[in-house]
Amino acid sequence: MKKTTMDLDLANKHVIIRCDFNVPIKDGKIIDDTRIVESLDTIRYALGARAKVILMSHLGRVKEQADLEKNSLTPVAILLGDLLRRPIKFINRTRSEKLKEVIQNMKEGEIILLENTRFEDLDGKKESTNDSELAEYWASLGDIFINDAFGTIHRSHASNVGIGSRLPNAIGFLVEKELNALSKLNHPERPYIVILGGSKVSDKIGVIKNLVEKADKIIIGGGMAFTFLKAIGYNIGGSILDSENIDFCKEIMTKYKDKIILPIDVKAALDRTESSPNHIVKVNDLRLNELGLDIGPETIQLFIKYLENAKTVVWNGPLGMYELPQYSIGTEQILKYLIEHNIETILGGGDIVAASKKLGYKDKVSHASTGGGATLEYLGGKELPGLKVINEK
Ligand code: 3PG
Repeated sequence: MKKTTMDLDLANKHVIIRCDFNVPIKDGKIIDDTRIVESLDTIRYALGARAKVILMSHLGRVKEQADLEKNSLTPVAILLGDLLRRPIKFINRTRSEKLKEVIQNMKEGEIILLENTRFEDLDGKKESTNDSELAEYWASLGDIFINDAFGTIHRSHASNVGIGSRLPNAIGFLVEKELNALSKLNHPERPYIVILGGSKVSDKIGVIKNLVEKADKIIIGGGMAFTFLKAIGYNIGGSILDSENIDFCKEIMTKYKDKIILPIDVKAALDRTESSPNHIVKVNDLRLNELGLDIGPETIQLFIKYLENAKTVVWNGPLGMYELPQYSIGTEQILKYLIEHNIETILGGGDIVAASKKLGYKDKVSHASTGGGATLEYLGGKELPGLKVINEK
């Protein structure tokens, strides 16, 4: 068992909390604050425990000078201050003399937020490659490290693994909550059904390989279903095809034919625009110039048949192009079914969580993970470096 926040005495200590504030921002406005809201428990606890709180996070990817402005954590600092109803001292640097001075003069219950840790990537990818000099410097700012950035737990960065390996440490409440939910999948109540969607098979290879033995059925929808259908000889018209992975799909379909459930009909259109007329068609009847953009009604019924007795469902990736209402029906109907039938459902991955939020179901499922890549790696059975570095109790 990993150490958790409660295992540490935070009073009067400089506590570095690594959060994942990597939130979507458009025109300077945060358009989904879930990750920030989910990080509040640990921050509030640390404040209540009389810590001096130093927050760190990355935002986006920083490759060139022009990426700096659009990836500043300024909007996060403002929202965080509003949510906590406390002043947040935002330091627009990742290191400086001033930063050291501010930290030295902090009082119990104060919070500072450093600028985007990936600003350090501009000069030799120091954050993303866990540069030891940078990690040493950041670790020198604190007494204790708490990793609460579940969304980044699959990365080995200076701001998580680097600091974590140099200070007494623990996981935060969000990471604890995520791991509790996901670890249920190690001994799931059966039938245990996995639903996979999204566009690319390549993103899900690890998950499929790891779960095909463990799950009772794997239901596949979304764009990735077409590569599977193509692999078993179906005509898929102009639907999305991950041609490099046809052989992988063929192999899986040969070995696990009875475990994999694919769509039998789809909603098709000539293009992905909102105005393009659509119709329901059997998968094999797609015309050359048509794309399948959602699962059809017979497929919804087929999927429900396999979900009827399910006791545990893990779902990664939407079943259609949910951004447009006419192609969100498959995802919506299946979500609705799972919720109405009280089936333990864990949503993992950015797109399905965003879809469930848009459709109004996010707060009704058993768990909606804040991790995209992190959940995929977890489900793929990979070791998570940001977790590995945390001490055992
Ligand atoms: C995420 O959004 O998946 C995490 O914040 C990690 O971001 P990254 O994929 O840019 O490393």
